[in-house]
Amino acid sequence: MSLNKEVMNRQEIEKKLEKIDITLPPPEAEPDRQYYFIKKLRVWVEEKKKELGRPLTANITTFGCQMNARDSEKILGIMQMIGYEESDSDEADFILYNTCTVRENANLKVYGRLGQLKKAKSKNPNMVIALCGCMMQEESVVDKIKKSYRNVDIIFGTHNIFKLAELLSIKLLDRPESKKMIIDIWEGTTEIVEDLPNERKYTFKGGVNIMFGCNNFCSYCIVPYVRGRERSREPEDIIAEIECMVQDGVIEVMLLGQNVNSYGKNLKNPITFAQLLERIEQIDGLERIRFMTSHPKDLSDELIAVMGKSKKICKQMHLPLQSGSSRLLKIMNRHYTKEDYLLLVEKIRKAVPDIALTTDIIVGFPGETEEDFEETLDVVSKVQYDSAFTFIYSKRTGTPAAQMENQVPEDVVKDRFDRLLKLVQDISTEKTKKGIGSVEEVLVEEMNQQDDSLVTGRTSQNYVVHFPGDASLIGKIVPVRLEESKGFYYMGKMEA
Ligand code: SAH
Ligand code: SF4
Ligand code: F3S
Repeated sequence: MSLNKEVMNRQEIEKKLEKIDITLPPPEAEPDRQYYFIKKLRVWVEEKKKELGRPLTANITTFGCQMNARDSEKILGIMQMIGYEESDSDEADFILYNTCTVRENANLKVYGRLGQLKKAKSKNPNMVIALCGCMMQEESVVDKIKKSYRNVDIIFGTHNIFKLAELLSIKLLDRPESKKMIIDIWEGTTEIVEDLPNERKYTFKGGVNIMFGCNNFCSYCIVPYVRGRERSREPEDIIAEIECMVQDGVIEVMLLGQNVNSYGKNLKNPITFAQLLERIEQIDGLERIRFMTSHPKDLSDELIAVMGKSKKICKQMHLPLQSGSSRLLKIMNRHYTKEDYLLLVEKIRKAVPDIALTTDIIVGFPGETEEDFEETLDVVSKVQYDSAFTFIYSKRTGTPAAQMENQVPEDVVKDRFDRLLKLVQDISTEKTKKGIGSVEEVLVEEMNQQDDSLVTGRTSQNYVVHFPGDASLIGKIVPVRLEESKGFYYMGKMEA
């Protein structure tokens, strides 16, 4: 078994750093090469701190999905190992935006922020600005930044996050005076570099990558182009990472992948996602398992059976629909029909009757007719989702859908979007009301942000519940009676 980098604790990392010597390991010797740079940067940070008479700070902002959130934990882990302290100041010494490009407005947000940074950088001349993530995998974006945002220092992509220490050392140690942007974007990779430090946001729950990339090429979606081909991690590495997390106090894991249902297909010894879940279920001390995202086309009967008998898999599934029209689903390259989807939902509900189902829906895909849209409304009414993320179609350059001519006029899309949103909200409000009176196991996550006499947690179905309690409950699973529904969340009371 290759004990990987994600399972080393701080002491082990310190030991590793001690052993790293003064010769630079070659690029194929990862992660040792990165530890070499971390070690060099640590010396620089200590000197800089003395010079400035204060700590050095890093502010990392994450856009997009859970993959990016997990990547940001790895980035923060590296920065802390180098000696930076986490900060939310706009004038921090290291500012990083981990970007998303799934829809146009994700990109616009980043440009807006970059504009604001110009002033902040003039106040803190030590500031290093770095950009990474999905947006950076697009050539047109990098060109625009090179032209219009000259204050950016480092740009890297989704495939080489592990190289952060190396890129930072070029900037800080090799050419501190140079204004030249350091740009390192890879088109793709088959490599998975693990054993680097990473800083988890919570001590009691955490995300675990089980695979990277996506092979599905849904015709509207840019993710396969910016995240590369599907690569699964070895099951032993995943299990070892979760065991290590559990030893550190984690009781809930979220398994992450763009399409977890096709996990394991490209491994030397292929295993299915259902088999992986069965192995994770065996881990002592782990209490809850979640996963996302499930593509309907690859959701097997085997997985449904495993969910039906599992004691740890939460009663929640995110099952993106995208559209209820079989005609559009075909053009979207989704590989299922409206009928297939409804049948799947029926099978899942039969195996796990009280499962909460959530979904993603796109409105205004090119050529969407009123009839197509009504099919979507029909599926929403039939499935009765607990909640749904609704998106207005956004044209992404490079995807097949961007070439399609029959784009739907904006006012028609807006009207459909509003109708869909209303239906989705009416259904979730009704569904939430039905939960009132029941007692649910709630994992307490934090103090309530508005009222410090309350704590906030999540049920197995992933509903948010606020109830009276104190900080000693954080990280524990407790029984809570749901007393009042407020749209998408509950107010409750802990059972004695
Ligand atoms: N891998 C996941 C989702 C990744 S992106 C899956 O397949 O479900 C998250 C959601 O963004 C998608 O489910 C889709 O609904 C939405 N999305 C992706 N591309 C989009 C686009 N071009 N316009 C609007 N929404 C989009
Ligand atoms: Fe995009 Fe489809 Fe892959 Fe999801 S499955 S990331 S929607 S291409
Ligand atoms: Fe966005 Fe990249 Fe995730 S495009 S949705 S951050 S995979």
